[in-house]
Amino acid sequence: MTTPGKTRVAIVFGGRSPEHGISCVSAGSVLGALDPDEYDVVPVGITRQGQWVLTSGDPGELAIRARKLPEITAGAGVEVVLRADPTAGGLLVLDPTEGPRALADVDVVFPVLHGAYGEDGTIQGMLEMADIPYVGANVFASAAAMDKEFTKKLCAAEGIPVGAYAVLRNGMTLSETDKQRLGLPVFVKPSRAGSSFGITRVDDWAQLDAAVATAREIDTKVLVEAAVVGREIECGVLEGEAGGAPEASVLAEVRMVGDREWYDFESKYLFADEVCEYDVPAGLPDRVTRQVQEYATRAFTALDCAGLARVDFFVTPDLDVYLNEINTMPGFTPTSMFPRMWAASGLEYPKLVNRLIRTAVQRH
Ligand SMILES: Nc1ncnc2c1ncn2[C@@H]1O[C@H](COP(=O)(O)OP(=O)(O)O)[C@@H](O)[C@H]1O
Ligand SMILES: [Mg+2]
Repeated sequence: MTTPGKTRVAIVFGGRSPEHGISCVSAGSVLGALDPDEYDVVPVGITRQGQWVLTSGDPGELAIRARKLPEITAGAGVEVVLRADPTAGGLLVLDPTEGPRALADVDVVFPVLHGAYGEDGTIQGMLEMADIPYVGANVFASAAAMDKEFTKKLCAAEGIPVGAYAVLRNGMTLSETDKQRLGLPVFVKPSRAGSSFGITRVDDWAQLDAAVATAREIDTKVLVEAAVVGREIECGVLEGEAGGAPEASVLAEVRMVGDREWYDFESKYLFADEVCEYDVPAGLPDRVTRQVQEYATRAFTALDCAGLARVDFFVTPDLDVYLNEINTMPGFTPTSMFPRMWAASGLEYPKLVNRLIRTAVQRH
């Protein structure tokens, strides 16, 4: 039942991408931040196989324990389906004993999903079909930001600097000309992935084929990028309120300490405390900070983003700025960079979640 005056929000998490576990952790934080006086919450978990279940949504069960990420399994709750028919009332619970039952209309969906089938426009398309407002980027922006080739092309067309790269479509290999143009080292990555899955730094061309094969396990399209020597700087962007211009947060820097050379999966999630240091705000000259913020909001607009995005850059020792990638559903735990950058900009975690839900409803 919908409670009068409350917003009914479905939090959708888990999902089919390799970032399933990270999504669960992000969702646990969002669930914990929603004020029960303001929201009726419908927690919907998606298993790795793609089954949708109505779960308990207990934030305590959605945390990293002993370096193990949480997981949604089919037994976690009763099956639920999203109906594409906008007149059908959205979510339908398939109760095994009592039969199908429609859940009261949800006012808004927060797809706290990272990577494929969540951040790439696919679930956004389902929600458009069902005519349900949702947090974050629309179909096009999600798909464009998910694909590192098109992110670079769209941003470069708007005058935002991107590093040198080559695209290897299915079956293609890197030409000698491209090897000379890019130079070593290169980063080899799946065009559509995240959380550093499938990425290899190649210091010797003899390692290239294996690196391309690793990336192709995730995506048939592979990017080979010249390594940018520089600091890793991130910027949070929020859609403006009431149709205003997008806003940029203070910047953050991710610094690798110890022997890890780049920001791989383990550094991001499992050993972050030991191998990474985060500066929020990043220690950069004001001019460079403003430049990065301006590129971040320009990139947000270039891709037609909505709601939120985290735009990641490299800043070289000469203070040149290069865009690396755009995440339309960035990590959302309280220790994730996106919420931390906004907290440092004066928007605390629960207020950030409220604002995202509010702008999603208003936009619709
Ligand atoms: N061209 C590059 N130059 C230097 N480092 C890179 C480059 N591309 C990727 N990296 C390193 O790999 C990490 C992950 O790459 P990224 O493109 O951000 O993929 P993901 O979407 O998986 O986060 C970056 O944070 C950075 O540490
Ligand atoms: Mg990244």
